Amino acid sequence: MYHHLPVMLKEVLEYLQPKSGGNFIDGTLGGASYTLALAAAVGPTGRILATDLDELALENARQKLTDLNLNNVVLARTNFKNIKEIVAAKFPATTKFQGIVLDLGLSSAQLEDETRGFSFQGERPLDMAFGDELKLTETIVNKYSLLDLTRIFREYGEERFAYQIAKKIVEVRRRETIKSTKDLVDIILSALPARFRASRLNPATRVFQALRMETNQELESLRAVLPLALDLLSPAGRLVIVSFHSGEDRIVKNFFRDHNRQELEILTKKPLGPSPEETNANPRARSAKLRAARRIQTRSPN
Ligand SMILES: C[S@@+](CC[C@H](N)C(=O)[O-])C[C@H]1O[C@@H](n2cnc3c(N)ncnc32)[C@H](O)[C@@H]1O
Repeated sequence: MYHHLPVMLKEVLEYLQPKSGGNFIDGTLGGASYTLALAAAVGPTGRILATDLDELALENARQKLTDLNLNNVVLARTNFKNIKEIVAAKFPATTKFQGIVLDLGLSSAQLEDETRGFSFQGERPLDMAFGDELKLTETIVNKYSLLDLTRIFREYGEERFAYQIAKKIVEVRRRETIKSTKDLVDIILSALPARFRASRLNPATRVFQALRMETNQELESLRAVLPLALDLLSPAGRLVIVSFHSGEDRIVKNFFRDHNRQELEILTKKPLGPSPEETNANPRARSAKLRAARRIQTRSPN
């Protein structure tokens, strides 16, 4: 059973304001909570396009849509950066959307999937791909240069011991291929000064996050999709992004700022976080940041 507790669903809907007959895009289907809520709100005359790279997310959504007898959702297994092609293929020409939402990162189901290596618990293959780009994480760990590993651990993981960990990886892989998440966790632990091994919440968290972001080229996909999403919005259409990483939030913030008053009106001066109640119920929501903007009505040529 696919399991993911949605983050900031109530706030997302408040900003998207879905109405009967509307068209919306959910670029990150995951456990389908946003998609199902939108599908219910727009009713049979509306359409939701939902994309995800993960076949398990699509399978789960197909099942739920059948159970709920909802026929207004178009599912596509793709990277959201291909959104224009998918819209062109599946919707009438010139279709515009009243809202587009992205809820970035990974789902709880992916974290718990024992066939993949998103979690540092247990012994799993070094595979952190959302889709099926198999072996990519293993290649990064075993082939990237010392410099590149250090850079991604620092930039994506904000890991203080980026260089020490990268150096240890390079040392170990000279003797043998690093194959499992457990091998990697052991290497990370051995690279840290003793007092940090015990004192940190989980010493592998940051490196795992960095490898996942590099495997899926997450910041690149986000940078690519924002201008496309802007193009696909109808006048007064809304763009809502929930991010979990400072690098992601910066990209969204800068994009909104660069288009402010020309094409977008920013609806969140500061990013919105989850309520204390939500954080208590779902600690994963803790680092969520929601930013929303509305497309400015473009004047007609006459
Ligand atoms: C946090 S979950 C979304 C949860 C969802 N909002 C819900 O209500 O259950 C993020 C999902 O986005 C997918 N994803 C991440 N980056 C993607 C990309 N560039 N293109 C398509 N899907 C992506 C992941 O595979 C994952 O299933």
